[in-house]
Amino acid sequence: MIPIADPQLDDAELERIRSVIEGGMIADGPEVRSFEDEFASYCDTEHAVASSNGTTALHTALEALGLGEGDTVLTTPFSFVASANAIRLAGAEPIFADIDPETYLLDSDAVRDVVEKHGDVDAIVVVHLYGLAADMNEFQSIANEYDLLLIEDAAQAHGAEYHGSRVGSFGDAACFSFYPTKNMTTAEGGMITTDRDDVRDGAKRFVNHGRSDNYQHVELGHNFRMTSVAAAIGRAQLEKLPEFTTARRQNAAALNEGLRTIPVDTPTEPEGRKHVYHQYTVRAGRRDELMEHLDTADIGSGVYYPTCIHKQPAYSHLSAQLPIAERTTDAVLSLPVHPAVNDSDIETITTAVSDFYSND
Ligand SMILES: Cc1ncc(COP(=O)(O)O)c(C=O)c1O
Repeated sequence: MIPIADPQLDDAELERIRSVIEGGMIADGPEVRSFEDEFASYCDTEHAVASSNGTTALHTALEALGLGEGDTVLTTPFSFVASANAIRLAGAEPIFADIDPETYLLDSDAVRDVVEKHGDVDAIVVVHLYGLAADMNEFQSIANEYDLLLIEDAAQAHGAEYHGSRVGSFGDAACFSFYPTKNMTTAEGGMITTDRDDVRDGAKRFVNHGRSDNYQHVELGHNFRMTSVAAAIGRAQLEKLPEFTTARRQNAAALNEGLRTIPVDTPTEPEGRKHVYHQYTVRAGRRDELMEHLDTADIGSGVYYPTCIHKQPAYSHLSAQLPIAERTTDAVLSLPVHPAVNDSDIETITTAVSDFYSND
């Protein structure tokens, strides 16, 4: 089976875990501070604050920005549900704008339209879906024009670039996930990046029961702390991230080439953006049959995501209609692109897709 995801862990992670265990500080500690510093430096931000996962990172960022009850936060309906759940967990109300049919990312014109019509939006959570940076110039100018906070959900986009700058460095705050299927992992883990001192301070308090100093709890918070064991894995993974990204990009280029004459829409990489291919996602006719065909050929594939967030039962109180996002859920299929995919796997995948459409 060629799996759809295959986390790459070896002796480098084992050695760092061993050293953390031998040092005795396995929960929060200096290992987490080092990982935060190294991650901030990687993203070229002033600060990074670690958390227990990507959902808590996003929730924490929203809280640290002062968003909560009575606030409205616009995001994409075409993402993992966590992007919107975090908004609700912070006590704010999510609203949605439709996506661009080529990039699958929030459409900046649609966002502007919703912001105008709603009249009281407080913030935007842009999602760099599948590893492709959203159009940050556009979103920054909308945020400036309407005085909105801007948050990046970079859970799927470690190392992705927009006109030479890495994601995580554009918004008032950004969030990453280190779930095992992501471009780098800590098993479970998350990170908030920001240039704002107040957001750093607020995030540090929120992940630690609102603690400011010496058991002084100045506000309500959670235990959303990262463990040192997770940070140890993360530090080893961060060192490997450049080579992971290169492998993902090479595999994506090879898939593009292999699928060139086949009637599926391959991913786009707009000018000035560096896609890191968390997913290599095609738009395909007879998608569900293709998925079955690949499964029979021992090739893993995945639909991210089969249901738009606003169509989830947990969001049935909303009545949004977002036709592009809704159509897209029926057509997208992600193929293996992770660093362990090799040339022979690419050949197997492209041949299987080609065979499926050979009689069309
Ligand atoms: C776009 C997006 N946002 C947020 C999250 C939440 O991250 P986690 O699973 O680490 O809580 C994910 C993870 O799947 C994601 O893909």
